[in-house]
Amino acid sequence: MATNGTKANGNGETGVGAEAINYDIITLTRHLTEEQVKHREATGDFTLLCHALQFSFKSIAYYIRRATLINLTGLAGSSNTTGDDQKKLDVISNDLFISAMRGSGRCRALISEEEEQVIYFDEHPKARYVVACDPIDGSSNLDAGVSVGTIFSIMRLPDSVVESGARPSVEDLCMPGTELVAAGFTMYGASAQLVITMRGGTVNGFTLDNALGEFILTHPNMSIPKSRAIYSVNEGNSLYWQPKTVSYFNSLKSPSDSHPDPSKFKPYSSRYIGSMVADAYRTLLYGGIFAYPADKKSPKGKLRILYECAPMAMVMENAGGKAVDSNMKRMMEVKPEGIHDRSGIFMGSEKEIEKVLEAHK
Ligand code: AHG
Ligand code: MN
Ligand code: MN
Repeated sequence: MATNGTKANGNGETGVGAEAINYDIITLTRHLTEEQVKHREATGDFTLLCHALQFSFKSIAYYIRRATLINLTGLAGSSNTTGDDQKKLDVISNDLFISAMRGSGRCRALISEEEEQVIYFDEHPKARYVVACDPIDGSSNLDAGVSVGTIFSIMRLPDSVVESGARPSVEDLCMPGTELVAAGFTMYGASAQLVITMRGGTVNGFTLDNALGEFILTHPNMSIPKSRAIYSVNEGNSLYWQPKTVSYFNSLKSPSDSHPDPSKFKPYSSRYIGSMVADAYRTLLYGGIFAYPADKKSPKGKLRILYECAPMAMVMENAGGKAVDSNMKRMMEVKPEGIHDRSGIFMGSEKEIEKVLEAHK
């Protein structure tokens, strides 16, 4: 309640001093607790797992911000399972993530882009959750101070596997996106932005308040605009694209023969950061399309299903958008053949993805 004669407005804010103080902040911790109360069967395990996740995001955000000052830029001198050179921050973020997941006591196994094999936490044989993550997405942008992110998927193991206490097999873990219980990402930009969604739920965005050390709900119930004339793709690969993909992107830039009135045609704007998290976050807020198609050079695509494509597809769909692979199949239904399996992807505003489907018929 407001004191000293100040009046609270409907948002619980008062006008004391220059800064309006909000007394009714929804932190991620509060949001998770409120969600847990809605589910009578909830044990609290998922909430505890999410607390560990948010700690890893805060730690990664902290080291990224200080990287140039404490010699954390540049290569680590190693390469990961898919052959990419690892940056020092790829390795550090991966280790922070592993440690947070192990410490949560609620995670049975972790799949990471930076680890060839599944990491099993055998000290917690009855833990029912598995997390897949890309600890730093967009790491080629790190040393330039351009936004990068962490992407995560959360899966729940079948009761039979949990009760047995045995290690879940790779087959158990290769679930399609429709089986995920939650997914999201944190973008480390001007501020750290955490976006999370649960199966069949809404999409909520939180901003890290560095002073409070808390993620604050700033973007409740996010919804992607139905259409927007922005495309985001590495056009340098167009030489390798299949002809239908080439003509789809060309159609965004110049009127086709069938265009009713070429004088009224307005070309799309091109925006490509090269960090999927940042490109996807902009697409979520502004609308448009982000794509990384499969091509002749990478017939299975570049982005990984379990910790890049599926979690982003879940966010897009729950925000009212769409996501498909290069075969025009719903991305959420694509089952990976291995933990690091890849896919082409087109995702974003509903109407933009419908154009993609039409062009690839
Ligand atoms: P990562 O840094 O985890 O390897 O992922 C990079 C991904 C993704 O963030 C981005 O959209 C894409 O690779 C950029 O690839 P190109 O440089 O080929 O455009
Ligand atoms: Mn990535
Ligand atoms: Mn990565």
